[in-house]
Amino acid sequence: MKWTPENIEKTKNTLRNSRTVGLAMAKIRVDFGPNITFDAVRRAFHRNRIGNPRLHIGRNLEPVEIIQSYKQTSPYGGIVTLTVPKGATSMTIERSLLTINRSTKRILVVSDLHAPYHDKAAWECLLEVIRETKPETIVIIGDAADCYAISSHPKSLKRKADFATEVELVKKALAELRAAAGKSCRILWTEGNHEDRITRYLQSKAPEFGQLKELSAQELFKVSDFNIEWVPYRTSIKIGNCSFTHDVGRCGVNTARQSLLDFGGNIVVGHSHRGGVSYQGEIKGSSHFCLNVGWLGDVNEIDYVHRNRALRDWQLGFGIVDQDEQHSWATFVPMVNGQCVVDGIRYGKAMAA
Ligand SMILES: [Fe+2]
Ligand SMILES: [Fe+2]
Repeated sequence: MKWTPENIEKTKNTLRNSRTVGLAMAKIRVDFGPNITFDAVRRAFHRNRIGNPRLHIGRNLEPVEIIQSYKQTSPYGGIVTLTVPKGATSMTIERSLLTINRSTKRILVVSDLHAPYHDKAAWECLLEVIRETKPETIVIIGDAADCYAISSHPKSLKRKADFATEVELVKKALAELRAAAGKSCRILWTEGNHEDRITRYLQSKAPEFGQLKELSAQELFKVSDFNIEWVPYRTSIKIGNCSFTHDVGRCGVNTARQSLLDFGGNIVVGHSHRGGVSYQGEIKGSSHFCLNVGWLGDVNEIDYVHRNRALRDWQLGFGIVDQDEQHSWATFVPMVNGQCVVDGIRYGKAMAA
């Protein structure tokens, strides 16, 4: 049999009208043949991104009380039993099976958003990944705010320098990030050179205002309102055996390699807008890495680099660091044609040809 949309829909309805997987499979085998396995159904549902078939069991039936538990039966999956209180008409599943199945803790790294001049499609794609995969921690690794209006560089005559609007739009992006991540996600923001423009502006134009906390970046962007921890510019934060910072003073094509040699331990950096991972081993057998996280800015909004050069050299994307108690695994996730792939699942909308 072929998993056509009609057959998928019919199977889904059978699952929803059945009290157990066994009863559903008996009906599905009557409909589609005796050789259909639950694993085949699970794979078809996974391909069509409609979740684990077990989550559809009994959805159309009157709710009954069952015990809530999750039993991991393999590195890739397990058995979920859901509790539906008597009288409930709907239920919310907060964590996807991808999250439940993870044997490591996930840190998702967002770099160089340059809001409000960010790539809106890439941003939506990233929010979708966050909503679906629920990382335990998110590190915004600097240059999340462009701060164009207070840049010391000559400004475009076509763009109105309006810092108040910029600040509001950055806060809007932070609100979207917090909503996607959920309340329990730890979010940190390591300051980048673009946020540091606020300090430099005060230093050069109004040093008398320098002691006013209200004019600091973390106060202007109201980071505490979004429960975001602030890490000052040119410092790093260590989580597990991996450190995070905007940059260690390196930029260009060899950023990952040079930053790795500079730092000498696991480090995640942004700033160069390039994506990649560099590894360095030791004779003893251990190794460490530098993950360079790419960027999420809109190439049409920049005026400090030739657009063609930015298109050639910079890479839209984000970073993932999966950790257990002792080790970290770093991945650069590129966005290609408006989409990215995480854990084998595709996210985002493909751009029109
Ligand atoms: Fe940047
Ligand atoms: Fe930067």
